[in-house]
Amino acid sequence: MRTAILASGRGSNLQALIEACKTGNLPITIVGVGSDQLGVEALKRAEEAGIPTRVFQVGDYPHRQAQEDDLLIWMRENKVELLLLAGYMRVLGSQFIRQANFPVMNIHPSLLPAFPGLHAQRQALDYGVKVSGCTVHIVDEGLDSGPIVLQEAVPVLSGDTEESLAQRILEVEHRLYPEAVRLMVLGKVKPTGRRVQILQQEGLG
Ligand code: GAR
Repeated sequence: MRTAILASGRGSNLQALIEACKTGNLPITIVGVGSDQLGVEALKRAEEAGIPTRVFQVGDYPHRQAQEDDLLIWMRENKVELLLLAGYMRVLGSQFIRQANFPVMNIHPSLLPAFPGLHAQRQALDYGVKVSGCTVHIVDEGLDSGPIVLQEAVPVLSGDTEESLAQRILEVEHRLYPEAVRLMVLGKVKPTGRRVQILQQEGLG
């Protein structure tokens, strides 16, 4: 499945997806990595893996919609069948989502619907929850609000800082995201409204 990935920063989830492809665990072809930020580590990781990259800096466009129109043109040119957001720190607009004729997936560092948006780990610590985690979901027109594909809990420890919690969640993300994408491309993810059935895990969907 021809897959594009958007990332804004470090790109450790991108790296996990690249590694899963290399080991044969993830039957996708990453046809391009795009970023809204110039010179970020995610772009370097893609280049090292021989994946074409493109930068779509919002400041280079007259308005946000023009940036998203360009993203869509790039994806159509590359015959993209699946888009993965991997630390892409922008909300894709409704028009983009409506016009994308491929599924869009995202990973978020909390157990949604708790703590959507930015600084999810800080939000979890500030709220005082004892358990957080990460969520892979299908992207809809809202903020981190689409149907949930996989989730995994991570305990919040009493001495946790934003960084230590983020790091422990990240380790789970690196396993969960490739697994969710694998299920998706194998046709095992069956959304019905908000509820997503995972076909190979009978009884858990
Ligand atoms: C990850 O924790 C990801 O879940 C989060 O940003 C980090 C990116 O790390 N994404 C969001 O918060 C999206 N709302 P990475 O660049 O090393 O993959």
